[in-house]
Amino acid sequence: MSLSKNPLTSPAPLCVNLGERSYPIHIGPGHLANIGELIRGFAPSKRVVIITDETVYGLHGKVLENALSDYTTHMIVRPAGESQKSMAGLETVLEAMFRAGLDRTDLLLAFGGGVIGDLAGFAASIYKRGLPFVQIPTTLLAQVDSSVGGKTAINNSFGKNLIGAFYQPRAVIADTDLLSTLPLRQLKAGYAEVLKYGLLGDRNFFDWLEAEGGKQILALDTTSLSKAVRVSCQTKARIVAADERETGQRALLNLGHSFAHALELDAGYDGDLLHGEAVSAGMEMAFYFSVKAGYCSAEDAKKVSEHLSNLDMPRLSTLGERLVNPTKLTRFMGQDKKNEAGKITLILARAIGEAFVEKAVSDEEVISFLTALSENDVSEIGIS
Ligand SMILES: NC(=O)c1ccc[n+]([C@@H]2O[C@H](COP(=O)([O-])OP(=O)(O)OC[C@H]3O[C@@H](n4cnc5c(N)ncnc54)[C@H](O)[C@@H]3O)[C@@H](O)[C@H]2O)c1
Ligand SMILES: [Zn+2]
Repeated sequence: MSLSKNPLTSPAPLCVNLGERSYPIHIGPGHLANIGELIRGFAPSKRVVIITDETVYGLHGKVLENALSDYTTHMIVRPAGESQKSMAGLETVLEAMFRAGLDRTDLLLAFGGGVIGDLAGFAASIYKRGLPFVQIPTTLLAQVDSSVGGKTAINNSFGKNLIGAFYQPRAVIADTDLLSTLPLRQLKAGYAEVLKYGLLGDRNFFDWLEAEGGKQILALDTTSLSKAVRVSCQTKARIVAADERETGQRALLNLGHSFAHALELDAGYDGDLLHGEAVSAGMEMAFYFSVKAGYCSAEDAKKVSEHLSNLDMPRLSTLGERLVNPTKLTRFMGQDKKNEAGKITLILARAIGEAFVEKAVSDEEVISFLTALSENDVSEIGIS
């Protein structure tokens, strides 16, 4: 497959407007080779430390190193996988940064998927009280979601992303060429987050995904990938600028995530069920919950199901055994960070493109919904 490589044809960068912490998002093919130019001015010392994982380093590390020939570089390469987002992973990275003798005139580059972005971003936030950093996301999920917005975190035995900081990067550089090496399973997991932006607030975007965009994205069509990343980042940037610390509408970005987090917690975080796979089915669940609660038409929920089915995405009908224990899943949903006063908060929808935050959902409502799903007795809520 040949993907075009001319950054000069890329449109102007997007901007996340956060006053003096505002930053650009560069999107398009060919940016990695031009990285020296894009980070100009961020590292007065001309020294950069790159945090990446073995897979990404093996596939794309040389291009990055060559593009940084004007800089002194320190490469920190970690094994791939969620387990790196841990105290031990953090400590290893921080120690390597101290050994390299970094100071605040240096720049950290987070070069990888969401795991590296979250881990490296958190390390940057606490190293000597804050080292500037740039996100170079290499998965679709990271390009459309985790690299933008400044949430950084690691996990511990109490759950995911519980230790972290809001810490914004100086820039996000999303080179869509990097996605050409992504396994289809990872591409689909990222696509779930792309679809999320259509479902939560942009009916036109959903219509494009349904008509042609979805298929083209999964076939790695360059133009469609750039459009998908751009529209997704535009929406995320707008929401983050309005509500950086998630006191209001930023919660809409969690459409499908309450169900997803419970499924993930149940599956364990060993790669058996990827985050995006859980989100894919979780969004379908949020739509059917909205139907059951009388907010949304069964027709719209069905449209979501059909779209997922057309692209062979993870969905309710592929969850199988994962739904057998409604009480346990509801208990897991009760541990979500968004919940208030012991009641579950859900992101629901009035229609495709019209999501809203529903607070104070009772455990009984959730159990009854999940029981209907698990018993396949779902005709009353429009699933056939
Ligand atoms: N901070 C946020 O706002 C936010 C939002 C969503 C998700 N997240 C976090 O993101 C993480 C998931 O991110 P992810 O899905 O990118 O997972 P990941 O970083 O584990 O990457 C997935 C796999 O793809 C490989 N990979 C990365 N780029 C590649 C490429 N170009 N070609 C081939 N292989 C490549 C990686 O080595 C890894 O094995 C989770 O920890 C989640 O909590 C954070
Ligand atoms: Zn997500």
